[in-house]
Amino acid sequence: MPPFKTELDLYIRSRYPVIYVTTWEEERAERVLTEVAQPLGKELHVWTSSEGFRGIDASCTGPLEALDMIARSGARAVFVLKDFHVYLEDAKVIRRMRDLVALLKKSFKTVVLLSPQSKVPVELEKDFVVLPLPLPDAGELRAVLTNFLKSLDGARGVRIDTNEALMERVVKASLGLTEAQAANVYAKAIVNDRAFSMDDLPLISGEKKQVLLQTGLLEYYDSDQSVADIGGLDELKRWLGERNDAFSEKARAYGLPEPKGVLLLGVQGCGKSLCSKAIAAVWKLPLLRFDVGAVFGKFMGQSEENMRKALSIAESLAPAVLWFDEIEKGLSGMKGSAAADSGTTARVFGTFLTWMQEKTKPVFVVATANSIEDMPPELLRKGRFDEIFFVDLPTLSERQTIFDIHLRRRKRDAKKFDVVRLAREGDQFSGAEIEQAIVSAMYTAFAQNREFTTDDVSRSIAETVPLARTMAEKIEELREWAKWRTRPASRIPAKAPLTTPAP
Ligand SMILES: Nc1ncnc2c1ncn2[C@@H]1O[C@H](COP(=O)(O)OP(=O)(O)O)[C@@H](O)[C@H]1O
Ligand SMILES: [Mg+2]
Repeated sequence: MPPFKTELDLYIRSRYPVIYVTTWEEERAERVLTEVAQPLGKELHVWTSSEGFRGIDASCTGPLEALDMIARSGARAVFVLKDFHVYLEDAKVIRRMRDLVALLKKSFKTVVLLSPQSKVPVELEKDFVVLPLPLPDAGELRAVLTNFLKSLDGARGVRIDTNEALMERVVKASLGLTEAQAANVYAKAIVNDRAFSMDDLPLISGEKKQVLLQTGLLEYYDSDQSVADIGGLDELKRWLGERNDAFSEKARAYGLPEPKGVLLLGVQGCGKSLCSKAIAAVWKLPLLRFDVGAVFGKFMGQSEENMRKALSIAESLAPAVLWFDEIEKGLSGMKGSAAADSGTTARVFGTFLTWMQEKTKPVFVVATANSIEDMPPELLRKGRFDEIFFVDLPTLSERQTIFDIHLRRRKRDAKKFDVVRLAREGDQFSGAEIEQAIVSAMYTAFAQNREFTTDDVSRSIAETVPLARTMAEKIEELREWAKWRTRPASRIPAKAPLTTPAP
């Protein structure tokens, strides 16, 4: 039995009073519930606010009446209440539910709440168990595909290729979709060219990307960033270069483990986000940006679900790069949120850590962080990431390269600029500040209707107070912390302390 069914079966048999099943797939959930209830000799009664209890009592459409009806019933049954979450904000309903819970514990009746979201009021936290219905597995999707193709049997002018290899690849490409979404995508594939063949695979995976990312938790990046756009950070580049083929069959055959992930810690504006995008582009993997803040829903259960959902989507797109940009911000945001109570934060974060530890799909995690203050120590522990890189301010020669890169990016001949001078003047500037100096020099010159020069850039450097100066102490602290715990992303590890004046 699949794990979800096993768990459901166990909860029902151990007389758990209320099981809260979260899913968008009502029909499928009902089918699964029937499959579990039947062998236990239990009837399945389904309630909606529009029809009451289907087939047995159409009068009790109100939430209180529904709960009363369950309390009165002498049946051995599973009572499924659809979309009941909307009523769980009402004090009367909560009270009645608590009374019912006490009754259910001594009966052979189970209540199953079925809705897309879980909203569990605190009063009922101890009596509800939240059980998210996982997305359909390969077997279930295979059934959807078979049924769909069968329904086309005899349709005129439709050409269907049904070789085993194609079926397998279609099912694999559909993993991560709900049954309804999969059926829609298959229909679309047919409408397209009146045929179902290998040619439809890109359409199916393309559709899948769209559907999955509508969840609002992940953003799909089409990154064309190349390593050549990054100035300096040679050690990091070398490390990544060595792992170019790390996700290949060849690497597995060689006996290499799949890389787990990398944490880029360091000074703001020095290229951490840039590198994240480059990793995905160079490895030719989809880049999925994970919005940590969006995971934290207001109600218990929901946040963990969101986390699981996002992770399962990422896995369904594997091999992929899963990107947590400025992870410390998302993690500190959750401290102040309503969800932070009752250990939600710890559980959601625990879900993530466990997943990192146990993931079997090739999903490479890239996390970036500008500070360690809000970073949970568990995340920094050895073995979570393959490596923690420290990204410091660029050195003199790195600054030259960065000036060079950004001048070229603006279609300028870098040789016409005194890049050595600018790099020297831009002491303690980050990559972002270097870029900004060029842009503001361009604005000035553009307004005067002329080409910009080294002097213009030099002037905008003089007018800028780099972050490194205003936040010297913070950066020193970060460096001190990083010294023994991280690996420098640049080859020249010794940097002049920020407090001594530039030569
Ligand atoms: N090492 C670098 N090489 C080239 N450009 C850089 C570098 N560091 C920063 N930049 C420029 O500054 C921008 C912001 O940098 P970003 O990668 O977002 O910094 P971080 O994520 O470390 O705060 C980049 O998009 C890029 O244009
Ligand atoms: Mg960034």
